[in-house]
Amino acid sequence: MSSIEKVMEKLAQAGQLQTRQPGGESGVATIEEMPSSSAAVESDGDPRVPEGEEEAQTGGALPLIKLDFQQLQLKGYLTPISSATVLAEEYRRLKRPIMRNAFGKGAVSVEYGNLVMVTSALPGEGKTFTALNLALSLAMERDTTVLMLDCDLVNPSLSRILGLADRPGLTDVLQDSGVEIQDVMFRTNFSKLRVVPAGQPHPQATELLTSEKMHRISAEFSRRYPDRIVLFDAPPLLLSTQAAALSNFVGQVLVVVEAGSTEQRMIKEAISLLDEDKVVGMVLNKARRQLGGGYYGAYYGNS
Ligand SMILES: Nc1ncnc2c1ncn2[C@@H]1O[C@H](COP(=O)(O)OP(=O)(O)O)[C@@H](O)[C@H]1O
Ligand SMILES: [Mg+2]
Repeated sequence: MSSIEKVMEKLAQAGQLQTRQPGGESGVATIEEMPSSSAAVESDGDPRVPEGEEEAQTGGALPLIKLDFQQLQLKGYLTPISSATVLAEEYRRLKRPIMRNAFGKGAVSVEYGNLVMVTSALPGEGKTFTALNLALSLAMERDTTVLMLDCDLVNPSLSRILGLADRPGLTDVLQDSGVEIQDVMFRTNFSKLRVVPAGQPHPQATELLTSEKMHRISAEFSRRYPDRIVLFDAPPLLLSTQAAALSNFVGQVLVVVEAGSTEQRMIKEAISLLDEDKVVGMVLNKARRQLGGGYYGAYYGNS
């Protein structure tokens, strides 16, 4: 039995396993429950699944999510086959300063620089879309690994897109001292990309997300995996206090602005909630919606 199955069994026994209402998103991935050695053929050119510390801790390969490149492309996401597109180039431009800050190559050293939160003022502005594209772009880098955490516990669309909405995840780790983050982690057919879903819905999501355990997990990730970028797909800044509180645990914050929709005063208000010592970047999303979606440009710098 895989560790994920063990956690699911444990939650079911405790009567804690609930299924979320399915969201509007249709999936771009299938899950391979029982990873076999033959499943370890990667589609991004790396024939081996890197043996990571998490595998060592769980005593075997993590379960595999197979991202469907065609579905990803249809929905406007990056894939290895779209590396020559304008979208891929725009994400290259977006990720470079993030990587510099993450790996201590920027003008100033950024504490917890490899922990990057993606947020926005309001729901629906493209946080998850941006975070997943950024993760895919980073995962195509030679020396960088990426871990995506679905931290939008109220609207976990990343988990839904990846077919992981009813899986144990972050909330289960945060509320149960017996569940570790590697127990709810998935690898993907991008060998450098790993994902942790949101987990079971929880009435005290804010408290969990800003708990001492979350702080400890974040700090540990930053210290233990210096060549890994951890992307927090966060809730919106203006609807609850979760995102602002979570931003205290990360070194960099990327604020998504929806072109023609997010009002300037909303952007100002959202950014005012962030600590002054954070590196804050802004990205303009859906700027070419009439041409089929995608990015226009990004600004990145110290706040
Ligand atoms: N640039 C874009 N091009 C195409 N679709 C997009 C783009 N940005 C967002 N979307 C779509 O808009 C919807 C809302 O975006 P999402 O990333 O889930 O928002 P948020 O995470 O901020 O709530 C999703 O269906 C997403 O796929
Ligand atoms: Mg989202």
